[in-house]
Amino acid sequence: MKFFLDTASLKDISWAAQAGLIDGITTNPSLLSKQAGDLDPRDVLKEICSLVEGPVSAEVVAVDADAMVREGQSLAKIADNIVVKIPMLEDGMIAVRRLATEGIRTNVTLCFSSVQCLIAAKAGASYVSPFIGRLDDVGQEGMDVIREARVIFDNYSIETEILAASIRHPRHVVEAAMIGADVATLPPDVLKKLLLHPLTDRGLDQFLADWNKLVARAKAAV
Ligand code: E4P
Repeated sequence: MKFFLDTASLKDISWAAQAGLIDGITTNPSLLSKQAGDLDPRDVLKEICSLVEGPVSAEVVAVDADAMVREGQSLAKIADNIVVKIPMLEDGMIAVRRLATEGIRTNVTLCFSSVQCLIAAKAGASYVSPFIGRLDDVGQEGMDVIREARVIFDNYSIETEILAASIRHPRHVVEAAMIGADVATLPPDVLKKLLLHPLTDRGLDQFLADWNKLVARAKAAV
């Protein structure tokens, strides 16, 4: 399973890239507005694209097809690894098709049902992003969308990748991996939580304490 980092934070991306833990990045207007401050968001995206080799999703803010295509074409010029994020809208599907015919990869975002994922795939999306956590937040079982989309895509050998988004905790990652999502995009705090287990900390404390006892005994014997 591929891991993307769901952030525009250069510090977090830098750490995860150096550790070889991430295969790509997803951003959205909210994440970019948090990171960019006074900077031009295009410069932030350019910097992100230089930090990772894999796909970097950059979202359009237009909502009509022509404007989405223009914005997508412009975003795609920032770097070769840009993937244009398009919202799940009627016009969005036209934009996805037109960008696909130009060889520009797209990630259809704000998907909340498996049939939306199927529609986006038919339009020619490279990725579809079902939002798990936001469905859980309103009392639905977000993971069901991933489960259904996996079966549908496998039934018809659809190559569009299922990107589990709006991930809130490590259990989401485990479940998405067991179902067979192609990618999970993780907020940095969730990625860091994947490394943790209390028994790891306890075990390391014990090893170091025992080692220090040995060193102290050796010193005392001199
Ligand atoms: C996906 O690409 C989105 O950026 C993201 O996963 C949204 O997650 P949220 O529900 O935590 O905002």
